[in-house]
Order: sequence, then C-alpha cells, then structure tokens
Amino acid sequence: MAGSYALDATVPGGVCIPMGGVTWVSTLSTHRRQGIMRQVLSAVHDDIDERGEPLASLYGSEGGIYETHGYGVASNSRTISIDTKRAKFRAQYVPEAGHVRYISGDDVVDTTSEIWERFRRCRAGEVSRSLIEQDLRFAMGDRPEGGLTGARYLRHNDGYAAYRIDSQWNDGQPAHVLHLIQMVAVTPEAHAALWHSVLNVDLVGEVRSRIVAIDDPIGYLLTNQRDVRTVSTRDNIWLNVRDASICFGARTYRTTDRLVVEVDGKRWAIDGSPDEASCRSVRTRADLVTSHAWFSALLYGGVLPSALVAGRRMTARNDDILRRADLFFPTSLLPHCQTQY
Ligand SMILES: CC(C)(COP(=O)(O)OP(=O)(O)OC[C@H]1O[C@@H](n2cnc3c(N)ncnc32)[C@H](O)[C@@H]1OP(=O)(O)O)[C@@H](O)C(=O)NCCC(=O)NCCS
Repeated sequence: MAGSYALDATVPGGVCIPMGGVTWVSTLSTHRRQGIMRQVLSAVHDDIDERGEPLASLYGSEGGIYETHGYGVASNSRTISIDTKRAKFRAQYVPEAGHVRYISGDDVVDTTSEIWERFRRCRAGEVSRSLIEQDLRFAMGDRPEGGLTGARYLRHNDGYAAYRIDSQWNDGQPAHVLHLIQMVAVTPEAHAALWHSVLNVDLVGEVRSRIVAIDDPIGYLLTNQRDVRTVSTRDNIWLNVRDASICFGARTYRTTDRLVVEVDGKRWAIDGSPDEASCRSVRTRADLVTSHAWFSALLYGGVLPSALVAGRRMTARNDDILRRADLFFPTSLLPHCQTQY
C-alpha cells in the first residue's frame, strides 16, 4: 500500500504550492523485492500528477530506498537534548511573565490552527494542516502514548508549543523527560517566551525533541550554547519535483542570475532573483548537470550545489558557475518540516 495527502508546501520566498505528501509506503514481508512498491509508487505519482500537484515529497524510513525513485534529500533535522538543571537563559532575554499560558480542550484546535496558518508560511519546507488534521492531531495527542502523558499545550499570542512527559520519579529525585512535539513561534518574542516556559516545567530533568529546526536560535538565548546537545542528525524531507517550471518558478533566489540545469538529459533555465523567477525548458548549454532526485533537492534551498558536486551527484561547467550556484540557490532560514505525514 501507499497513499498521498493533498498538502500545500512553502517554498523559499513564502509562496505555497500544492504538494502530494506520499505516505504509508509498505509491502508485506512475504511479497518483498518483486517490484510491488515500484508499481504502487508509480500509481501514487499518477494520482499526484492528475491532481495537478507540481511536487511530491516524503519522509523516508530508511535512507537507501528513495533516490532511485527520483527523490532527493532537501532538508535535514536533528534530535536535541537539553539538561534543564544546567541550561540557563541569559538574564537579558528572560521574557516578562504573563505571556504564556496553558490551553486545553476546544481552545487547542482553534488556537493551533490560527497560529499554524501564520507560521507555516515563514519557512520553506513547512506544510498546510487542514482542520481535519488539526482535529486528528489533537485527538491523538490527547491520548497517553507508550508511557508518555497526553500532550500539554502552551500558548502565546504568536506561537504555541506542545509536549508530552515521560515520568521518571527516581525514588524521590524526580527528573522527568519532556518530549517537545511542537514548537511553533511566529515572532522572536514568542520563541523566547515558549522556550523559557518549556525549560521551566517543574520536575523535568531533560527536554528532548526531534522537531526543532537545525538553525533554531535557542542556543543563543542561553548562557552556554553547548547546553543544547545534538544527539543525532538525519534526513528530513525528500522531494520529487513533478513540474519543474511551476516549482522552480514559484520560489525566489538569493541573487539575480540565470543558470541552466541539465536533468537526466533535459535542460531547464532558471531566471531568478530575490523577488521573482521563471523556469523553462531550453536547448542552450548546461551550467550544471544532475539527476532528477538532486535537482528536486535544490528546490527548498537547503542543499549547496558544491556539496552535491563533492558528493558526485552533480557536475558544474566550471568553478565560477559553481560559486554562482552556491550563492543563488540557498535560503537564509534552513528549510525544515515538523509535520510528520
Ligand atoms: C521498503 C518497501 C516498501 C519495499 O517494497 P518492495 O515491494 O519490496 O520494493 P520493490 O520490489 O518494488 O523495489 C523497488 C526498488 O527499490 C529497491 N528497494 C526496495 N527496498 C529497499 C531498501 N530497503 N533499501 C534500498 N533499496 C530498496 C529495490 O531494490 C528496487 O530497486 P530496483 O527496481 O532498481 O531493483 C518494503 O520493504 C517495506 O514495506 N518495508 C517496511 C516499511 C517501510 O520501510 N516503508 C517505507 C516507509 S517510508
């Protein structure tokens, strides 16, 4: 089986484009390696193309499966751990009291939906969450899961955070683990206030999270940046561009330039600037040559062309072209998606 959600994804510059979020890819263990996934995935791609979605994406359970199916890694994520007994906010950044409060019940879906709609447009890679999905997330979050409590929600006017607690009473030395499952801050004030609240939940010894963007500035707010410990890093979103003209024409670029990328024999000219862009099929000489998977990975602006060249996934006509490509494609905020689908 496999399926796809109809989502909207944010590309660099803040425009949202329709995207098929591929999910539930699985073949029974008794029927593996007979080409079933290839056929089912191809049917899912037909659905996405019929719905007119110019982009497909997925989270990979394993890193070795999807490159041959046209998907490249467009963003990375990390798991962090913060020892709350050590981590201290710098005095000048401690937020004023009174801006964060707990919410529960019917308030949660209304609040999170409104704030999410603002938040998801601020960073490339984030996706829409329909009201049905927000309802479902709330219902699932409300239930204890694998020894963790149901989700608790902290609300600020411009953000919210959600967490579950893994109780560790330790014979009178409580050091619960707080699993941060959503951190949604639209402004720096909301970001500091929510983090401050999360780090000060009573009886917690460690805050752990897999959903915090690699470039989240929490470390700068603490007296010692090392207190935000990266436990592991991994691939986050894999992209497969279905319609290059729409995808690469929808985003903005860091510099004003024109680069021709040859993708599996076909050439695309991207004319881009910080304000607008177009992408169309051409016959002129290629500046960069790559495969469909790694062309797709360039869309969110989180992958450096020179890293792809060094990793043998791309070639550049010369060093000057590569220098221009490194300036052209990246975004200022790293792309990131904290919505699991
Ligand atoms: C991953 C999974 C869906 C593959 O299903 P399958 O029907 O055996 O796959 P196919 O036979 O169609 O293989 C298609 C291609 O992918 C490759 N492939 C399949 N599983 C792979 C794996 N785990 N690692 C690397 N390549 C893999 C095959 O070699 C084949 O390549 P080829 O056509 O070039 O020979 C199946 O093993 C599964 O259900 N795994 C557990 C659940 C899971 O991990 N799902 C992914 C969720 S994101």
